[in-house]
Amino acid sequence: MGAGDGFRAPAAVISAGLLSVLGLSWFWSLLALLGVYLCSGGWRFLYVAACTIKRDLVGLCILLRVKFFMHHYIRMRSTVPSIFAQRVALHPDKAALVEESTGEVWSFSELDRRSNAVAQWAVAQGWRSGDVVAVFMESRPLMVALWLGLAKVGVEPALINFNLRRDSLMHCMGVSGARGMVFGAELLDAVLEVKESLSSLSLFCTGSSPVESLDSLSAQNLDDLLFYIYTSGTTGLPKAAIIVHSRYYRIASFGYYSFGLGPDDVVYCCLPLYHSAGNIVGVGQCVLHGLTVVIRRKFSASRFWDDCVKYNCTVVQYIGEICRYLLSQPVRPSESCHQVRVAMGNGLRPNVWEDFMKRFNIKRIGEFYGATECNCSLANMDNKVGACGFNSVILPSVYPIRLLRADEDSMELIRDSRGLCVPCKPGEPGIIVGRINPHDPLRRFDGYANQIQHRLNNLQIMIQRCQRMCLKMFKDIKVCVCEAVGCHCSCTLSYSSGVEGKAGMAAIVDVMNDFNCETFLRDVQNALPSYARPVFLRLSPEVDKTGTFKIQKTRLQKEGFDPRQTSDRLYFLHSRLARYESLTEELYSAIMQGKLSL
Ligand SMILES: *[C@@H]1O[C@H](CO)[C@@H](O)[C@H](O)[C@H]1NC(C)=O
Ligand SMILES: *[C@@H]1O[C@H](CO)[C@@H](O)[C@H](O)[C@H]1NC(C)=O
Repeated sequence: MGAGDGFRAPAAVISAGLLSVLGLSWFWSLLALLGVYLCSGGWRFLYVAACTIKRDLVGLCILLRVKFFMHHYIRMRSTVPSIFAQRVALHPDKAALVEESTGEVWSFSELDRRSNAVAQWAVAQGWRSGDVVAVFMESRPLMVALWLGLAKVGVEPALINFNLRRDSLMHCMGVSGARGMVFGAELLDAVLEVKESLSSLSLFCTGSSPVESLDSLSAQNLDDLLFYIYTSGTTGLPKAAIIVHSRYYRIASFGYYSFGLGPDDVVYCCLPLYHSAGNIVGVGQCVLHGLTVVIRRKFSASRFWDDCVKYNCTVVQYIGEICRYLLSQPVRPSESCHQVRVAMGNGLRPNVWEDFMKRFNIKRIGEFYGATECNCSLANMDNKVGACGFNSVILPSVYPIRLLRADEDSMELIRDSRGLCVPCKPGEPGIIVGRINPHDPLRRFDGYANQIQHRLNNLQIMIQRCQRMCLKMFKDIKVCVCEAVGCHCSCTLSYSSGVEGKAGMAAIVDVMNDFNCETFLRDVQNALPSYARPVFLRLSPEVDKTGTFKIQKTRLQKEGFDPRQTSDRLYFLHSRLARYESLTEELYSAIMQGKLSL
């Protein structure tokens, strides 16, 4: 990345105009200005621009291609499953997925058939669009058939890390709000350990399922949720990042176009499928671009190149450690007689980069940067050693990302005297920032499962997560607050101790004053089991800005649902009438005296 002020043409023309007024001819004036510009450091910009123009053009072409196809798919109202269906129609008999451990090959039509069977089965379970189902199994083709099949009917799979046990497993189950879990038989022990806590869910161990064709696909589009991937995050417990169809498309196709992949490539994927690297950058090449992907359950340094030779792989995936393990292996013949052309991944250190390319005869390294949920991702598109991406010097706003100076210890952004952030100079470390644009599928941020992202229409998903979290994770906590960043609603669920999770209250900030109790009840009835539905609703016109959430929690807890304590609108879910009733003082006393049951 480089700094440099562009040559401001209009200013130059005006100055040249002024000079020519002074009696110099236009030609000489422009030449004089060019001289001044070059002497004042402009030559540097021109030099950098000349060196980077080819790279920028390549990058621009890739960006335009991804955008073009993305807009095409948006126009066609495509989804990941419907793009996959096109691949199946194109080459039904081509190998789609290969299971390394058994050598079993699934053609595109086979993968389609199996995912249809999953979809059919999911519908038979009563699961519908918007329901979350956890998928907990080791990496193998069946896992792809599972999430793809669930996605076909709009059920949202939460892809759970198969290494998790007990508390961490329960945490991820809790934040997902899953109604059921499908697990691999190899993880039976892990599931049995937490069986009691999972007792309210339907559990399924994968076996063979009937294969039938499926006619009714759910009506979705690229903006809809495809699945959840858990990201480790820097603050402890994993968060469930929302992957919408367009994000899946974007990540996979940036990989495809940036690293020059083609339809005849065979990808070797030994990264876990519960992460985006394995499931999107890798498997996405099969689902969206029709490539063959070889799936290995777990990475093995000694088997790596033998596998690549055996399956004629031309593309491998890595994370930094994989490259280091491979380099520390003794030399074996397979490492130089494979057909691998491209290695794509994250975290290849510059100091082993060239050794890796040379020893294993890899022509191209596709290093990229970007977290699963990241708002801004980068890729090394020109095979430059050590780079994970670039920022155009000539046209920095085509892809608006910046590297900003930050304090290396606190990771706080450094600001200048005017309070503005300071861009890094070439070679300086910093924090990457990108412009978020919710209307641009390339730049939007979809957030995490336990944040309110959309307005009231998504509230039920949110409440579901809060409630499950409260009920399952923090049994003795009375109030659980979920904070929504940058949007108009927040939700607080409180539980009074006597009723043990039964009488939850949802405190909703209704800025637009357009909250509809009926729609809300319908959503909640669809989303939540009866015991978890909020019995009380409290609508406030604005976010409580005065206190921290802690204070607000205590205040809400203290005020409870007493209409005399607040001017907020209060509602009560009348179980007999099956609707939310405005909570009057009479109703309040009836409830308090136990005349009206909850
Ligand atoms: C790999 O390529 C060779 C030669 O083209 C072919 O004979 C072999 O069947 C291929 N192996 C697989 C697993 O596709
Ligand atoms: C992306 O943007 C959102 C909204 O501003 C922010 O909350 C989130 O932390 C960002 N994520 C990353 C990975 O930068």
